[in-house]
Amino acid sequence: MSIKETIRSRRSIKQFNGEPVSEKEVLSVLEDAVWAPNHGVREPWRFVVAADDGKARLLDILKEQTIGPKWKDMQQDEVAKAMQKFTNVGAFVFVIVPEDARQKERLEDFAAASALIQNAQLLAWEMGIGTCWKTPVFLDHPKFREALHVHRGERIVGMLQFGHFDIVPKGKERTPIEEKITRL
Ligand SMILES: Cc1cc2nc3c(=O)[nH]c(=O)nc-3n(C[C@H](O)[C@H](O)[C@H](O)COP(=O)(O)O)c2cc1C
Repeated sequence: MSIKETIRSRRSIKQFNGEPVSEKEVLSVLEDAVWAPNHGVREPWRFVVAADDGKARLLDILKEQTIGPKWKDMQQDEVAKAMQKFTNVGAFVFVIVPEDARQKERLEDFAAASALIQNAQLLAWEMGIGTCWKTPVFLDHPKFREALHVHRGERIVGMLQFGHFDIVPKGKERTPIEEKITRL
């Protein structure tokens, strides 16, 4: 696939089929994705990866975070249904960026991490693996941050889900570029 084809054909995958994605596959994507531009080569990122056995540990954390302690009083099938959107994901990567006190650096670091995330999404797509960059509110929850060993002065900028899929959703049309251009 050319870069153009990969960019245009990639879709955010929100329905995964439950097939796992190994840590090895995830790390091979990240090894290439880190070649994203980043000012001063500060490499302003680190990752919490939940694949293979780690996925089960993350699902326990997510159960507590999204359902709350009441999951213990629920029927098992009810819990399973509530968790299905996470269980079906093949692997998770949480992208963590330092929160520099300086506005310019903070913006640059977030921009660089965003470039890295898009690299990862395109690389995975080329391997036949779908992704979705998600930003649920719980990423900033103190208990969730603690469970993921996120330190003060760091922010989780995305939950990147990897997985296999049966259906590619139809992409939403983009606005013609002419409508976005101001000529000087
Ligand atoms: C910063 C960012 C945050 C996103 N957060 C979510 C999210 O929380 N939940 C979700 O379903 N999709 C999320 N998405 C994916 C977008 O919904 C998706 O990119 C958009 O619908 C366009 O679809 P496409 O990626 O298939 O072109 C996010 C995308 C970005 C770039």
